[in-house]
Amino acid sequence: NKVNPEFRLKYHMMPEIGWMNDPNGFIYYKGEYHLFYQYYPYDSKWGTPYWGHAKSKDLIIWEHMPIALAPDMYYDVDGCFSGSAIEVDGKLYLMYTGHTNPDPDNPKNIRQVQNMAVSKDGVNFEKIKQNPVISERDLPYIALPQDFRDPMIFKHNDSYYAVIASRNIDGSGQLLLYKSNNLLNWNYVGVIIRSDNKLGKMWECPSLFKLNDMDVLILSVQHLDKNGDKYHNLFSSIYMLGKMDYESWKFICEVVDEIDYGFDFYAPQTLVDDRGRRIMIAWMQVWGRTIPTDCHGHNWAGAMTLPRELRVIDGKLYQIPVDEITKYRKNKISYKDIIVNDKIQLDGIEGQNVELEVEIDAQNANNFGIKVLKGEKEETVMHYDRREGKFIFDRSKSGEQIKNTEGKEDNEQIRKTTVSLKNNILSLRIFIDRCSVEVFIQNGERVMTSTVYPKSTSKSIEFFTDNKIIIKNLNKWDIELGGIK
Ligand code: FRU
Repeated sequence: NKVNPEFRLKYHMMPEIGWMNDPNGFIYYKGEYHLFYQYYPYDSKWGTPYWGHAKSKDLIIWEHMPIALAPDMYYDVDGCFSGSAIEVDGKLYLMYTGHTNPDPDNPKNIRQVQNMAVSKDGVNFEKIKQNPVISERDLPYIALPQDFRDPMIFKHNDSYYAVIASRNIDGSGQLLLYKSNNLLNWNYVGVIIRSDNKLGKMWECPSLFKLNDMDVLILSVQHLDKNGDKYHNLFSSIYMLGKMDYESWKFICEVVDEIDYGFDFYAPQTLVDDRGRRIMIAWMQVWGRTIPTDCHGHNWAGAMTLPRELRVIDGKLYQIPVDEITKYRKNKISYKDIIVNDKIQLDGIEGQNVELEVEIDAQNANNFGIKVLKGEKEETVMHYDRREGKFIFDRSKSGEQIKNTEGKEDNEQIRKTTVSLKNNILSLRIFIDRCSVEVFIQNGERVMTSTVYPKSTSKSIEFFTDNKIIIKNLNKWDIELGGIK
């Protein structure tokens, strides 16, 4: 099987071949970052999931490891679904969902149970004899056994806990909490939070942690209704800031927002490393969309976002690309104080695998921005509309069009997010990697991540405006991993 290099990314984590979705078991273990992921090795579309595995010393260059989990037991025969990792006494434990679907015509017979696997060397994993450790009989009556998945394991005081996504009998999302003293016997504690039908249908891939004195809950949600600029994708990842009451085990939510306002961001996971950084990575795609035949025809699909450090500042979750990426900057080209009245392309500012750092003084302009991955007929447009107070990402002319295959059938190719200028300045960090664009707006206050599929020749970059602007600072680097794929 040959993989066509067309659309392959250069500096994002992706498998060598096959389909990838959610990150799993993201953990800093014995001095290295480990990333597992939902993996189907045999095709470019979702199939019975395995856990793929890669590790890294710097979150940018990944070494592919042998598959960690295969669906080979009666309790996970139709998939080793998403889950998390924890280190205990030097061993690496994975907690994951075993999915069985004995009668595909009758989804009521699906069962999802929780299992553990353990490794002494961080390479070879053994499923434990006691699996499943949490099964249908451990569910409260309000929870459906066919939607019970994606355990996030953590330690609090001297006990282990798992937060697990569940569907209530009324069809809405909820998170269940289980407790254990030995990782084998788990007791149901309660529902930490429920959607009450306000926040979408099934909740997936929960994650609960403390950051900058706030408790943060991350969730990935199916079928959230659009709300202003939020939740325009059929699948959205959201964060809640609030207080986890460790007495009653209830999460009291104070703020809810979408994590990423672009098109392609789902099922994020986080870890804490030896520097105390809380780092997030997500699947750079969502369900329910087409991907180009060039990928399908050549046996691969899916990539992860750049890893991002998280911070809570003034009641908002900020995302900053991990600083390790700056080690791979090459061929710096800089400009200062460039006046633009209409549009401009600058020498050396182009490319398909680049980072751009831009600070624009908006002067009196009402609409200004940047076009990237620009060719004769293609362009990906990012601009600021002062009247709307919004930053806009437009992929309608980006190249091969991506279509919705389920729900929200409008196929709109524009996303917007509210952004305020700071002292009349818009500052952007943009990472372009062949078929992905990640833009960090106003130092990570807002982020938009999207896949786009232009021709390999579409690599120009152009600034444009309806009125004078000044590009105060512009830096461009090629991002090169030095021959390592
Ligand atoms: C989220 C998800 C998870 C599930 C996995 C299956 O994208 O639907 O809930 O465990 O993907 O691959």
